[in-house]
Amino acid sequence: MISRRRFLNTGAASITAATLAPSWPAFAGEAPRIILEPKPGTAPLVEDAPSPTPVWAYRGQVPGPVVRVRRGDTVRVRLKNGLPQPTTIHWHGIRIANAMDGVAGLTQEPVPPGATFDYTFTAPDAGTYWYHPHFRSWEQLARGLYGLLIVDEDAPPPVDRDLFFVADDWRLTDDGTIDEASFGNLHEWAHAGRLGNFLTINGRSGPEIKVRAGERIRLRCVNVATARVLAFNFDRLTPRVIAIDGQPAPAADIDTGGLVLAPAQRTDLVIDVTGDAGSHIPVWEVSTGSPFEAARLVIADGPPLRSKPPAEPIQLASNRLLVSPSLGDAQGIELVMEGGAMGTLQEATFQGEVLSIRDLMQKGMVWAFNGVAGKPRKPLAVVPRGRTATINMVNRTRWPHAMHLHGHHFRAVERDGRPVTDAPWRDTELVAPGEQVRVAFVADNPGKWLLHCHMLEHQAAGMITWLEVT
Ligand code: C2O
Ligand code: CU
Repeated sequence: MISRRRFLNTGAASITAATLAPSWPAFAGEAPRIILEPKPGTAPLVEDAPSPTPVWAYRGQVPGPVVRVRRGDTVRVRLKNGLPQPTTIHWHGIRIANAMDGVAGLTQEPVPPGATFDYTFTAPDAGTYWYHPHFRSWEQLARGLYGLLIVDEDAPPPVDRDLFFVADDWRLTDDGTIDEASFGNLHEWAHAGRLGNFLTINGRSGPEIKVRAGERIRLRCVNVATARVLAFNFDRLTPRVIAIDGQPAPAADIDTGGLVLAPAQRTDLVIDVTGDAGSHIPVWEVSTGSPFEAARLVIADGPPLRSKPPAEPIQLASNRLLVSPSLGDAQGIELVMEGGAMGTLQEATFQGEVLSIRDLMQKGMVWAFNGVAGKPRKPLAVVPRGRTATINMVNRTRWPHAMHLHGHHFRAVERDGRPVTDAPWRDTELVAPGEQVRVAFVADNPGKWLLHCHMLEHQAAGMITWLEVT
Protein backbone atom coordinates (compact mmCIF):
# COMPACT_ATOMS: atom_id res chain seq x y z
CA MET A 1 0.00 0.00 0.00
CA ILE A 2 1.51 3.28 -1.00
CA SER A 3 1.49 6.05 1.51
CA ARG A 4 -1.12 8.77 1.46
CA ARG A 5 1.69 11.25 1.11
CA ARG A 6 3.40 9.47 -1.72
CA PHE A 7 2.59 12.09 -4.29
CA LEU A 8 2.35 15.01 -1.96
CA ASN A 9 4.54 17.72 -3.27
CA THR A 10 5.67 20.31 -0.79
CA GLY A 11 7.09 22.44 -3.59
CA ALA A 12 5.49 25.34 -5.29
CA ALA A 13 2.19 23.94 -6.43
CA SER A 14 0.26 27.06 -7.01
CA ILE A 15 -3.24 27.80 -8.00
CA THR A 16 -4.49 31.27 -7.61
CA ALA A 17 -7.61 32.42 -5.92
CA ALA A 18 -9.04 33.04 -9.34
CA THR A 19 -9.14 29.35 -10.15
CA LEU A 20 -10.72 28.66 -6.80
CA ALA A 21 -13.42 31.22 -7.28
CA PRO A 22 -16.83 30.02 -8.40
CA SER A 23 -16.76 29.55 -12.13
CA TRP A 24 -20.30 30.70 -12.74
CA PRO A 25 -21.64 34.02 -11.58
CA ALA A 26 -24.97 34.08 -9.85
CA PHE A 27 -27.75 34.84 -12.26
CA ALA A 28 -31.28 35.95 -11.61
CA GLY A 29 -34.60 34.64 -12.80
CA GLU A 30 -34.85 32.46 -15.88
CA ALA A 31 -31.35 31.15 -16.31
CA PRO A 32 -29.90 29.59 -19.42
CA ARG A 33 -29.74 25.83 -19.40
CA ILE A 34 -26.30 24.75 -18.27
CA ILE A 35 -24.95 21.73 -20.09
CA LEU A 36 -23.12 19.23 -17.95
CA GLU A 37 -21.47 16.57 -20.00
CA PRO A 38 -19.66 13.92 -18.01
CA LYS A 39 -17.02 12.26 -20.12
CA PRO A 40 -13.53 10.80 -20.02
CA GLY A 41 -10.76 13.38 -19.76
CA THR A 42 -7.65 14.10 -17.75
CA ALA A 43 -6.90 16.11 -14.62
CA PRO A 44 -3.56 17.39 -13.27
CA LEU A 45 -3.99 15.76 -9.87
CA VAL A 46 -0.35 14.85 -9.37
CA GLU A 47 2.25 17.60 -9.55
CA ASP A 48 5.20 16.67 -11.75
CA ALA A 49 3.53 13.53 -13.06
CA PRO A 50 4.71 12.76 -16.61
CA SER A 51 1.10 13.05 -17.75
CA PRO A 52 -2.18 14.07 -16.18
CA THR A 53 -4.44 11.44 -14.62
CA PRO A 54 -7.17 9.95 -16.82
CA VAL A 55 -10.46 10.73 -15.06
CA TRP A 56 -14.14 11.15 -15.79
CA ALA A 57 -15.11 14.80 -15.52
CA TYR A 58 -17.95 17.27 -16.01
CA ARG A 59 -16.89 19.85 -18.59
CA GLY A 60 -13.36 18.51 -18.39
CA GLN A 61 -12.87 19.83 -14.84
CA VAL A 62 -12.37 18.10 -11.50
CA PRO A 63 -14.24 19.24 -9.47
CA GLY A 64 -16.90 19.92 -12.08
CA PRO A 65 -18.08 23.48 -12.63
CA VAL A 66 -19.84 25.22 -9.78
CA VAL A 67 -23.54 25.50 -10.42
CA ARG A 68 -24.56 28.69 -8.64
CA VAL A 69 -27.94 30.36 -8.24
CA ARG A 70 -29.73 32.61 -5.79
CA ARG A 71 -32.27 31.23 -3.37
CA GLY A 72 -35.61 30.81 -5.09
CA ASP A 73 -34.07 30.72 -8.56
CA THR A 74 -34.50 27.88 -10.98
CA VAL A 75 -31.63 25.56 -11.74
CA ARG A 76 -31.73 24.35 -15.33
CA VAL A 77 -29.19 21.72 -16.25
CA ARG A 78 -29.03 19.41 -19.23
CA LEU A 79 -27.14 16.19 -18.58
CA LYS A 80 -25.56 14.94 -21.76
CA ASN A 81 -24.04 11.55 -21.12
CA GLY A 82 -20.59 11.25 -22.66
CA LEU A 83 -19.59 8.26 -20.52
CA PRO A 84 -19.28 4.65 -21.63
CA GLN A 85 -21.96 3.69 -19.09
CA PRO A 86 -25.32 5.07 -17.92
CA THR A 87 -25.40 7.90 -15.39
CA THR A 88 -27.65 10.45 -13.65
CA ILE A 89 -27.10 13.63 -11.62
CA HIS A 90 -28.22 13.74 -8.01
CA TRP A 91 -28.38 17.13 -6.26
CA HIS A 92 -27.12 16.22 -2.85
CA GLY A 93 -28.77 17.75 0.19
CA ILE A 94 -31.15 20.10 -1.53
CA ARG A 95 -34.86 19.71 -0.90
CA ILE A 96 -36.22 19.58 -4.41
CA ALA A 97 -39.02 17.92 -6.36
CA ASN A 98 -38.66 14.15 -6.27
CA ALA A 99 -38.64 13.69 -10.06
CA MET A 100 -35.45 15.81 -10.22
CA ASP A 101 -33.59 13.90 -7.49
CA GLY A 102 -31.60 11.90 -10.02
CA VAL A 103 -31.73 8.45 -8.43
CA ALA A 104 -31.42 5.75 -11.07
CA GLY A 105 -33.99 3.05 -10.48
CA LEU A 106 -36.11 5.10 -8.07
CA THR A 107 -36.87 8.57 -9.42
CA GLN A 108 -35.73 8.12 -13.02
CA GLU A 109 -34.30 5.66 -15.49
CA PRO A 110 -30.53 5.76 -15.84
CA VAL A 111 -29.51 7.97 -18.76
CA PRO A 112 -27.75 5.77 -21.36
CA PRO A 113 -24.51 6.78 -23.09
CA GLY A 114 -25.23 9.48 -25.66
CA ALA A 115 -28.64 10.37 -24.20
CA THR A 116 -29.71 13.54 -22.39
CA PHE A 117 -31.89 14.38 -19.39
CA ASP A 118 -33.07 17.83 -18.30
CA TYR A 119 -33.07 18.77 -14.63
CA THR A 120 -35.16 21.78 -13.68
CA PHE A 121 -35.82 22.69 -10.07
CA THR A 122 -36.20 25.62 -7.75
CA ALA A 123 -33.59 26.03 -5.06
CA PRO A 124 -35.56 26.40 -1.84
CA ASP A 125 -32.70 26.90 0.62
CA ALA A 126 -29.50 28.90 0.48
CA GLY A 127 -26.32 26.98 1.22
CA THR A 128 -23.55 24.68 0.08
CA TYR A 129 -24.73 21.58 -1.77
CA TRP A 130 -23.15 19.35 -4.37
CA TYR A 131 -23.97 17.13 -7.28
CA HIS A 132 -22.82 13.69 -8.33
CA PRO A 133 -24.01 10.64 -10.27
CA HIS A 134 -26.43 8.22 -8.63
CA PHE A 135 -25.60 5.22 -10.80
CA ARG A 136 -22.51 3.12 -9.98
CA SER A 137 -21.66 6.06 -7.77
CA TRP A 138 -18.85 4.07 -6.08
CA GLU A 139 -17.07 4.09 -9.44
CA GLN A 140 -18.28 7.33 -11.03
CA LEU A 141 -17.40 9.55 -8.05
CA ALA A 142 -14.08 7.76 -7.60
CA ARG A 143 -13.25 8.66 -11.20
CA GLY A 144 -13.86 12.36 -10.59
CA LEU A 145 -17.55 13.09 -11.15
CA TYR A 146 -18.73 15.67 -8.64
CA GLY A 147 -19.20 19.42 -8.36
CA LEU A 148 -20.58 22.10 -6.09
CA LEU A 149 -24.09 23.49 -6.14
CA ILE A 150 -24.10 26.83 -4.34
CA VAL A 151 -27.30 28.64 -3.53
CA ASP A 152 -26.66 32.22 -2.47
CA GLU A 153 -28.48 33.83 0.42
CA ASP A 154 -30.95 36.66 -0.23
CA ALA A 155 -28.38 38.85 1.50
CA PRO A 156 -25.02 37.06 1.34
CA PRO A 157 -22.94 37.60 4.47
CA PRO A 158 -20.22 40.25 4.33
CA VAL A 159 -17.06 38.32 3.49
CA ASP A 160 -14.20 39.48 1.32
CA ARG A 161 -14.08 36.24 -0.62
CA ASP A 162 -16.10 33.11 -1.00
CA LEU A 163 -13.85 30.08 -1.60
CA PHE A 164 -14.32 26.37 -1.59
CA PHE A 165 -12.36 23.44 -0.31
CA VAL A 166 -13.44 20.23 -2.00
CA ALA A 167 -11.55 17.28 -0.53
CA ASP A 168 -11.18 13.97 -2.33
CA ASP A 169 -9.35 10.78 -1.45
CA TRP A 170 -8.13 9.12 -4.65
CA ARG A 171 -6.74 5.64 -5.08
CA LEU A 172 -3.87 6.00 -7.50
CA THR A 173 -1.25 3.55 -8.70
CA ASP A 174 2.46 4.32 -8.79
CA ASP A 175 2.21 5.94 -12.20
CA GLY A 176 -0.48 8.34 -11.00
CA THR A 177 -3.41 6.67 -12.76
CA ILE A 178 -6.61 5.59 -11.04
CA ASP A 179 -6.25 2.16 -9.47
CA GLU A 180 -8.98 0.46 -11.46
CA ALA A 181 -8.09 -3.03 -10.29
CA SER A 182 -9.44 -2.16 -6.85
CA PHE A 183 -12.92 -1.23 -8.07
CA GLY A 184 -15.48 -3.70 -6.81
CA ASN A 185 -13.21 -5.39 -4.26
CA LEU A 186 -15.73 -7.05 -1.94
CA HIS A 187 -13.18 -7.48 0.81
CA GLU A 188 -12.78 -3.70 0.99
CA TRP A 189 -16.50 -3.16 0.64
CA ALA A 190 -16.99 -5.26 3.78
CA HIS A 191 -14.50 -3.08 5.65
CA ALA A 192 -14.20 0.73 5.50
CA GLY A 193 -14.78 0.85 1.74
CA ARG A 194 -12.29 1.68 -1.00
CA LEU A 195 -9.94 4.01 0.84
CA GLY A 196 -7.59 6.14 -1.22
CA ASN A 197 -3.92 7.02 -0.96
CA PHE A 198 -3.83 10.48 -2.47
CA LEU A 199 -5.64 13.56 -1.20
CA THR A 200 -6.66 16.44 -3.40
CA ILE A 201 -8.16 19.78 -2.48
CA ASN A 202 -10.06 21.38 -5.37
CA GLY A 203 -8.56 18.78 -7.70
CA ARG A 204 -4.90 19.50 -6.80
CA SER A 205 -2.41 17.98 -4.44
CA GLY A 206 -1.42 20.37 -1.65
CA PRO A 207 -2.56 23.54 -3.40
CA GLU A 208 -1.57 27.01 -2.32
CA ILE A 209 -4.58 29.18 -1.74
CA LYS A 210 -3.66 32.85 -1.98
CA VAL A 211 -5.19 35.08 0.66
CA ARG A 212 -4.57 38.56 2.08
CA ALA A 213 -3.83 39.49 5.64
CA GLY A 214 -6.89 40.91 7.33
CA GLU A 215 -9.20 39.26 4.86
CA ARG A 216 -12.38 37.51 5.99
CA ILE A 217 -13.08 34.47 3.86
CA ARG A 218 -15.91 32.03 3.66
CA LEU A 219 -14.58 28.55 3.03
CA ARG A 220 -17.08 25.95 1.84
CA CYS A 221 -15.60 22.59 2.83
CA VAL A 222 -16.94 19.40 1.27
CA ASN A 223 -15.84 15.78 1.53
CA VAL A 224 -16.54 14.09 -1.81
CA ALA A 225 -14.55 10.93 -1.06
CA THR A 226 -16.38 7.65 -1.50
CA ALA A 227 -15.32 6.23 1.85
CA ARG A 228 -12.81 8.15 3.93
CA VAL A 229 -13.79 10.31 6.89
CA LEU A 230 -11.47 13.34 6.72
CA ALA A 231 -10.50 15.88 9.37
CA PHE A 232 -8.81 19.25 8.92
CA ASN A 233 -6.99 21.53 11.28
CA PHE A 234 -6.24 25.14 10.32
CA ASP A 235 -3.09 25.53 12.36
CA ARG A 236 -3.01 28.93 14.12
CA LEU A 237 -6.23 30.25 12.58
CA THR A 238 -9.55 29.93 14.37
CA PRO A 239 -12.26 29.22 11.84
CA ARG A 240 -15.89 29.62 12.90
CA VAL A 241 -18.55 27.22 11.68
CA ILE A 242 -21.52 29.04 10.13
CA ALA A 243 -23.32 26.26 8.25
CA ILE A 244 -23.47 22.48 8.29
CA ASP A 245 -24.69 20.34 5.39
CA GLY A 246 -25.98 23.51 3.73
CA GLN A 247 -28.09 24.71 6.65
CA PRO A 248 -27.12 27.71 8.79
CA ALA A 249 -25.76 26.74 12.20
CA PRO A 250 -25.11 28.83 15.30
CA ALA A 251 -21.57 30.19 15.04
CA ALA A 252 -19.13 27.87 16.79
CA ASP A 253 -15.45 26.97 16.76
CA ILE A 254 -14.41 23.72 15.15
CA ASP A 255 -13.64 20.87 17.52
CA THR A 256 -10.17 20.58 18.94
CA GLY A 257 -9.78 17.34 16.97
CA GLY A 258 -10.28 19.34 13.79
CA LEU A 259 -13.11 19.75 11.35
CA VAL A 260 -14.44 16.24 10.83
CA LEU A 261 -16.16 15.61 7.52
CA ALA A 262 -17.68 12.24 6.75
CA PRO A 263 -18.26 11.45 3.07
CA ALA A 264 -20.86 13.89 1.65
CA GLN A 265 -20.83 16.23 4.65
CA ARG A 266 -20.22 19.95 4.27
CA THR A 267 -19.20 22.70 6.66
CA ASP A 268 -19.04 26.39 5.81
CA LEU A 269 -16.37 28.25 7.76
CA VAL A 270 -15.60 31.91 8.24
CA ILE A 271 -11.88 32.53 8.61
CA ASP A 272 -10.25 35.82 9.54
CA VAL A 273 -6.79 35.64 8.03
CA THR A 274 -4.02 36.97 10.23
CA GLY A 275 -0.29 36.88 9.67
CA ASP A 276 2.54 38.57 7.84
CA ALA A 277 2.71 39.08 4.13
CA GLY A 278 4.60 36.19 2.53
CA SER A 279 3.94 33.77 5.40
CA HIS A 280 1.67 30.80 5.06
CA ILE A 281 -0.75 28.80 7.14
CA PRO A 282 -0.81 25.04 6.62
CA VAL A 283 -4.14 23.23 6.57
CA TRP A 284 -3.46 19.82 8.11
CA GLU A 285 -5.28 16.61 7.37
CA VAL A 286 -5.43 14.99 10.80
CA SER A 287 -7.70 11.95 10.51
CA THR A 288 -4.97 9.32 10.40
CA GLY A 289 -2.77 10.15 13.37
CA SER A 290 0.03 11.26 11.04
CA PRO A 291 -0.97 14.79 10.06
CA PHE A 292 0.15 16.10 6.71
CA GLU A 293 -0.32 19.32 4.85
CA ALA A 294 -3.43 19.13 2.68
CA ALA A 295 -3.23 22.71 1.42
CA ARG A 296 -1.78 25.99 2.53
CA LEU A 297 -3.10 29.49 2.76
CA VAL A 298 -0.42 31.82 1.46
CA ILE A 299 -0.60 35.43 2.54
CA ALA A 300 0.02 37.73 -0.39
CA ASP A 301 2.51 40.57 -0.30
CA GLY A 302 1.19 44.02 0.34
CA PRO A 303 -0.53 45.80 3.16
CA PRO A 304 -3.25 44.00 5.13
CA LEU A 305 -6.80 44.53 4.00
CA ARG A 306 -7.69 45.68 7.52
CA SER A 307 -5.64 45.96 10.64
CA LYS A 308 -7.81 43.77 12.81
CA PRO A 309 -10.61 41.30 12.09
CA PRO A 310 -14.13 42.72 11.70
CA ALA A 311 -15.86 42.84 15.05
CA GLU A 312 -19.23 41.49 13.93
CA PRO A 313 -19.57 37.72 13.93
CA ILE A 314 -21.37 36.21 10.96
CA GLN A 315 -24.72 34.58 11.50
CA LEU A 316 -26.59 33.30 8.48
CA ALA A 317 -30.33 33.80 8.30
CA SER A 318 -32.20 30.54 8.73
CA ASN A 319 -33.71 29.01 5.64
CA ARG A 320 -37.09 29.39 7.33
CA LEU A 321 -38.60 26.38 5.65
CA LEU A 322 -37.38 24.17 8.43
CA VAL A 323 -39.63 23.79 11.42
CA SER A 324 -38.65 22.12 14.61
CA PRO A 325 -40.13 18.66 14.58
CA SER A 326 -42.40 18.09 17.55
CA LEU A 327 -41.84 14.57 18.70
CA GLY A 328 -45.09 13.93 20.54
CA ASP A 329 -46.89 12.18 17.72
CA ALA A 330 -43.90 11.36 15.55
CA GLN A 331 -43.93 8.26 13.41
CA GLY A 332 -41.08 6.07 14.63
CA ILE A 333 -38.96 4.22 12.09
CA GLU A 334 -36.33 1.70 13.19
CA LEU A 335 -33.24 1.12 11.12
CA VAL A 336 -30.82 -1.56 12.24
CA MET A 337 -27.52 -1.73 10.37
CA GLU A 338 -25.81 -5.09 10.24
CA GLY A 339 -23.09 -6.89 8.38
CA GLY A 340 -19.58 -6.14 7.23
CA ALA A 341 -16.33 -7.61 8.40
CA MET A 342 -16.36 -8.83 12.00
CA GLY A 343 -20.14 -8.50 11.96
CA THR A 344 -22.78 -11.00 12.98
CA LEU A 345 -24.98 -11.04 9.88
CA GLN A 346 -25.89 -14.67 9.08
CA GLU A 347 -28.54 -14.12 6.44
CA ALA A 348 -30.58 -11.38 4.80
CA THR A 349 -33.28 -10.90 2.21
CA PHE A 350 -32.00 -9.89 -1.20
CA GLN A 351 -34.45 -9.23 -4.02
CA GLY A 352 -37.18 -11.05 -2.13
CA GLU A 353 -35.12 -14.15 -1.30
CA VAL A 354 -33.58 -15.06 2.04
CA LEU A 355 -29.91 -15.83 1.44
CA SER A 356 -27.09 -16.98 3.68
CA ILE A 357 -24.13 -14.64 4.08
CA ARG A 358 -22.14 -16.85 1.67
CA ASP A 359 -24.83 -16.57 -0.99
CA LEU A 360 -25.18 -12.85 -0.35
CA MET A 361 -21.47 -12.43 -0.96
CA GLN A 362 -21.87 -14.17 -4.31
CA LYS A 363 -24.23 -11.32 -5.20
CA GLY A 364 -21.84 -8.65 -3.88
CA MET A 365 -23.91 -8.03 -0.76
CA VAL A 366 -22.34 -7.83 2.70
CA TRP A 367 -24.49 -5.31 4.58
CA ALA A 368 -28.17 -5.12 5.51
CA PHE A 369 -30.74 -2.70 6.90
CA ASN A 370 -33.37 -4.48 9.00
CA GLY A 371 -32.34 -7.81 7.50
CA VAL A 372 -32.64 -6.61 3.89
CA ALA A 373 -29.62 -6.22 1.63
CA GLY A 374 -29.88 -3.82 -1.30
CA LYS A 375 -32.75 -1.55 -2.29
CA PRO A 376 -36.05 -3.17 -1.31
CA ARG A 377 -39.03 -3.20 -3.65
CA LYS A 378 -41.22 -1.72 -0.92
CA PRO A 379 -40.30 1.38 1.10
CA LEU A 380 -38.93 1.04 4.61
CA ALA A 381 -41.81 3.28 5.70
CA VAL A 382 -44.63 5.33 4.24
CA VAL A 383 -45.01 8.70 5.93
CA PRO A 384 -47.95 11.00 5.28
CA ARG A 385 -46.87 14.41 4.08
CA GLY A 386 -46.44 16.92 6.88
CA ARG A 387 -45.96 14.33 9.58
CA THR A 388 -42.93 14.31 11.83
CA ALA A 389 -40.96 11.09 11.66
CA THR A 390 -38.00 9.79 13.59
CA ILE A 391 -35.47 7.27 12.34
CA ASN A 392 -33.64 5.37 15.03
CA MET A 393 -30.38 4.42 13.35
CA VAL A 394 -28.79 1.55 15.21
CA ASN A 395 -25.27 0.65 14.15
CA ARG A 396 -24.70 -3.01 14.96
CA THR A 397 -21.57 -3.17 12.86
CA ARG A 398 -17.91 -2.61 13.59
CA TRP A 399 -17.69 0.30 11.13
CA PRO A 400 -18.85 3.92 11.03
CA HIS A 401 -21.54 4.79 8.51
CA ALA A 402 -22.41 8.15 6.96
CA MET A 403 -26.18 7.92 6.79
CA HIS A 404 -27.82 10.14 4.18
CA LEU A 405 -31.52 10.87 3.66
CA HIS A 406 -32.60 12.43 0.39
CA GLY A 407 -34.98 15.36 0.04
CA HIS A 408 -35.04 16.39 3.71
CA HIS A 409 -32.88 17.70 6.50
CA PHE A 410 -33.05 16.06 9.90
CA ARG A 411 -31.52 16.59 13.30
CA ALA A 412 -30.37 14.19 15.98
CA VAL A 413 -32.74 14.14 18.95
CA GLU A 414 -31.28 11.19 20.83
CA ARG A 415 -27.86 9.59 20.99
CA ASP A 416 -27.41 6.23 22.66
CA GLY A 417 -30.77 6.70 24.35
CA ARG A 418 -29.97 10.13 25.79
CA PRO A 419 -31.81 13.21 24.55
CA VAL A 420 -29.84 15.68 22.45
CA THR A 421 -30.89 19.28 22.06
CA ASP A 422 -29.97 21.81 19.39
CA ALA A 423 -28.16 19.35 17.14
CA PRO A 424 -27.42 20.87 13.73
CA TRP A 425 -29.67 20.16 10.77
CA ARG A 426 -27.96 17.63 8.55
CA ASP A 427 -28.56 15.50 5.52
CA THR A 428 -25.72 13.10 6.35
CA GLU A 429 -25.05 11.80 9.86
CA LEU A 430 -21.97 9.87 10.88
CA VAL A 431 -22.99 6.95 13.11
CA ALA A 432 -20.12 5.33 14.99
CA PRO A 433 -19.73 1.57 15.48
CA GLY A 434 -22.15 0.41 18.18
CA GLU A 435 -23.79 3.81 18.32
CA GLN A 436 -27.49 4.55 18.13
CA VAL A 437 -28.72 7.90 16.82
CA ARG A 438 -32.36 8.91 16.56
CA VAL A 439 -32.97 11.68 14.07
CA ALA A 440 -36.18 13.62 13.48
CA PHE A 441 -37.54 15.43 10.47
CA VAL A 442 -40.77 16.74 9.04
CA ALA A 443 -41.71 14.66 6.00
CA ASP A 444 -42.80 17.65 3.97
CA ASN A 445 -41.51 16.65 0.56
CA PRO A 446 -43.64 14.09 -1.28
CA GLY A 447 -42.02 11.27 -3.21
CA LYS A 448 -39.61 8.37 -2.96
CA TRP A 449 -36.51 9.26 -1.00
CA LEU A 450 -33.41 7.16 -0.60
CA LEU A 451 -31.83 6.52 2.77
CA HIS A 452 -28.36 5.03 2.45
CA CYS A 453 -24.81 4.95 3.66
CA HIS A 454 -22.70 7.52 1.78
CA MET A 455 -19.69 5.29 2.04
CA LEU A 456 -20.57 4.41 -1.49
CA GLU A 457 -19.13 0.90 -1.42
CA HIS A 458 -21.34 0.15 1.60
CA GLN A 459 -24.33 1.47 -0.31
CA ALA A 460 -23.47 -0.74 -3.29
CA ALA A 461 -23.00 -3.76 -1.02
CA GLY A 462 -26.39 -3.50 0.65
CA MET A 463 -26.82 -0.35 2.78
CA ILE A 464 -29.65 1.26 0.88
CA THR A 465 -33.37 1.65 1.45
CA TRP A 466 -36.04 4.28 0.82
CA LEU A 467 -38.97 6.09 2.36
CA GLU A 468 -42.13 7.19 0.67
CA VAL A 469 -43.76 10.49 1.61
CA THR A 470 -47.36 10.52 0.37
CU1 C2O B 1 -24.94 12.16 -2.21
CU2 C2O B 1 -27.83 9.32 -2.39
O1 C2O B 1 -26.37 10.74 -2.33
CU1 CU C 1 -21.45 2.58 5.62
